[in-house]
Amino acid sequence: MPTLAFSTDGSAARPLFLVKKEGLADWLAAQDEATRDWVGAAGFRAGVGEVLPLPGKDGVSGAVGGLGSRKDRARGRFLAAGLRGKLPEGVWRLACDLEGDELAEAALGWLLAGYRFDRFVSNAGPLAMLLAPEGVDAVMLERIACGEALARDLINTPASHMGPDELEAAARDLAGTHGMAVEVTTGAALPKRNLPMIHAVGRASSREPRLIDMSWGDSGPSLALVGKGVCFDTGGLNIKPGASMQLMKKDMGGAANVLGLAHMLMDSGAKIRLRVLIPAVENSISGEAFRPGDILDSRKGLTVEINNTDAEGRLVLADALALADEDRPDLIVSMATLTGAARVAVGPDLAPFYATDDNDAAVLEAAAKAVRDPVWRFPFWEPYERMIEPGIADLDNAPKGGFAGSITAALFLRRFVTDTPRYMHFDIFGWMRESAPGRPKGGAGQGIRALYRALPEMLE
Ligand code: BES
Ligand code: MN
Ligand code: ZN
Repeated sequence: MPTLAFSTDGSAARPLFLVKKEGLADWLAAQDEATRDWVGAAGFRAGVGEVLPLPGKDGVSGAVGGLGSRKDRARGRFLAAGLRGKLPEGVWRLACDLEGDELAEAALGWLLAGYRFDRFVSNAGPLAMLLAPEGVDAVMLERIACGEALARDLINTPASHMGPDELEAAARDLAGTHGMAVEVTTGAALPKRNLPMIHAVGRASSREPRLIDMSWGDSGPSLALVGKGVCFDTGGLNIKPGASMQLMKKDMGGAANVLGLAHMLMDSGAKIRLRVLIPAVENSISGEAFRPGDILDSRKGLTVEINNTDAEGRLVLADALALADEDRPDLIVSMATLTGAARVAVGPDLAPFYATDDNDAAVLEAAAKAVRDPVWRFPFWEPYERMIEPGIADLDNAPKGGFAGSITAALFLRRFVTDTPRYMHFDIFGWMRESAPGRPKGGAGQGIRALYRALPEMLE
């Protein structure tokens, strides 16, 4: 998407002054009298998203845009992104005193405001463009925008057009771009290759379940990314009520996020060995469906009693995690739209994550703050382990009582990571319920910009 890149044509770039509320008086004092009068007469207050074109001899010579107050910027991110759609077309350059992470946020926000999901309808006109501001790593910001856009596109594409087959095609597409090796195990081959739970969850659908296994790089520390690829979650025989099912095209949000992150890592030429594992299934209903009360074998050898077919994500992830664990990479990271409980706890804006290693958690938290991709650590709370132990099998996929649903899901997953020294898990929402600057309503990356920043330090 060209709107996700910076312009390289500076010949006619006009200045866009970015002004904070608390900096407005100083900025005005530095302007000529005509500008001061114009801005005063127009009532420009440097509020969030406020834009005022500045007159020049032959039309608009520049513009001033508001970044709001400190409180506004604490409450929202990418506030400069909201200016892009309001500016006249053409090329702009930033004129402001932002620097470091704050400048990068403004520039990335601008790029992200160029994201459009136009596969099914194209109603967007041309957009204003920006020269890369001096002092930012423009290539890196474009890479991040591209990875984020990939995640959004995959999530936004409805299950009618994003089943396991199409998710595999998207993964192969990314693999082709970066020279990744791809191996896919599909349908009846799943139990044969000892991936029984991926098969059990996906076998009711006419669209065959599969495990997508991709690898890249031949030296350096090793990282495995595992993403939940439930292309649609009906809940299975424990069917979801209509309102809860409405958004379930996004249940492959974990897969979308790890693919977006994988793009960022590979595009930057990271010196790592990367493996990406995506169990891609549809949790559907038919005579073949797995049932409440069934006991499933798993790759790890643990047996799992199914107490709710709607707790399917942990089942498909468990087999993928067990496989990743056999390699003993330095770090495994899983991402999944795993529980409604995570959303209830922190809402759609924060990505809950779990880490077995305190240093990994600290590094991630610092990175998340710097790039404004907020995360919140939840505990692998050992006393709750007994909640996932039912009695007639090793594990229960859906503990009764409704307590600590995100934690018990994370503890369940961790049972399948036994030989890898460090494990992190993200229980994400992956969706914007309403549009915010740079983040339109729809699919959303969560935690991947923070991870992209943090991983080099975590893996060094
Ligand atoms: N995909 C859902 C979780 C979900 C729901 C994520 C809404 C984001 C928004 C998952 O498969 C699920 O249904 N989980 C159940 C588990 C329960 C049955 C133990 C849940 O959270 O209700
Ligand atoms: Mn479910
Ligand atoms: Zn699900």
